[in-house]
Amino acid sequence: MLDVGCGPAMLLERLPAGVEYTGFDVNPACIEAARDRYGDRGRFFCARVGEETGAIGEGEYDFVLASGVLHHLSDADASHLLGAARRYLKPGGAFVSIDLVWCERQPWLSRVLTSLDRGGHVRTEEGYRRLAESHFSEMETWTVSDHLRLPYRHFIIRAIGTPRAPGAS
Ligand SMILES: C[S@@+](CC[C@H](N)C(=O)[O-])C[C@H]1O[C@@H](n2cnc3c(N)ncnc32)[C@H](O)[C@@H]1O
Repeated sequence: MLDVGCGPAMLLERLPAGVEYTGFDVNPACIEAARDRYGDRGRFFCARVGEETGAIGEGEYDFVLASGVLHHLSDADASHLLGAARRYLKPGGAFVSIDLVWCERQPWLSRVLTSLDRGGHVRTEEGYRRLAESHFSEMETWTVSDHLRLPYRHFIIRAIGTPRAPGAS
């Protein structure tokens, strides 16, 4: 799997030992912490979305995750992430993202907590959907209220990598 914006790769705590894990993040301290803690359990790269290392490898992943990342990215960078995720996937592989969302009938505490988040690009459900639809034709989305104990609302995208036409970007 590829974990985009992996932070210190804490996800490895919850993955079975056999999972082949690659993670990258723009924050060098996160990548250093991941390497110190998890060593050869994965490959860890310091890279910014849009400036990824060629070592990540296109068409190689069954699963690409972007957990808590899209809402930190401008539309241009988020669109790059989604397009790159599709290219990184094997045909039939799955992309999943999860992010804070603005939605209708959102409780006031949820709105306050979301407005305090450091990610400067929290979107509406439609905003996330529109970005993803330009890269993936097959996808499902959900808004959930139980991802964390605090009453945030999170938007989940699950999209399937499809074979690309020859010459397509
Ligand atoms: C909320 S944290 C999520 C970390 C991890 N995915 C998780 O779920 O625990 C967002 C992460 O995205 C990374 N990030 C933000 N902008 C990025 C960019 N342009 N390129 C790569 N990583 C980025 C941050 O450094 C941070 O580690």
